[in-house]
Amino acid sequence: MRIALCPGSFDPVTLGHLDIIHRAAGMFDQVVVLVGTNASKKPLFTSRERVGLLRRTIRDLPNVTVDSYDGLLVDYARAHRATAIVKGLRAMSDFEYEFQMALTNRKLYPEVETVFLTSTAEYMYLSSSLVKQVASFGGDFSAFVPADIVEDIRKKIRKDDKK
Ligand code: PNS
Repeated sequence: MRIALCPGSFDPVTLGHLDIIHRAAGMFDQVVVLVGTNASKKPLFTSRERVGLLRRTIRDLPNVTVDSYDGLLVDYARAHRATAIVKGLRAMSDFEYEFQMALTNRKLYPEVETVFLTSTAEYMYLSSSLVKQVASFGGDFSAFVPADIVEDIRKKIRKDDKK
């Protein structure tokens, strides 16, 4: 049984993330989409909300589950017997950061291999930050995220604006 983790902030999940998750689901027996904590980001959605949005978007994938974790990714991998960490690479700008994380994770736990999938050209430019930025200025971001979470993002942005 080959178990892979698809970790990320997913704040919120985009069509680019979903593309990587679909492709990982075709490569591994079981895929766990893992909402992790990126210490350098202040998220818009709570971890619980991000898990909820993700669960709704992966309903059609029988070998994919969603979970969240506060600790080190490699500790989760060890505890859940995952042998791969799947990450999407969009452009050279992702490379340095992802390379650094992959090497750190390998040093901490050599039994897990990081696998990079190149982003589909259509989603090369896409990021959660871009979605939040367009949404916060009232722009149409519906081409960037799964259709059934558009309204959740609008609502959250409106609430956040009132703070
Ligand atoms: O979508 P992101 O923000 O690039 O995802 C980063 C994430 C959450 C995968 C990464 O920060 C992470 O793995 N956090 C868990 C803590 C950890 O293991 N940090 C060391 C990685 S080198």
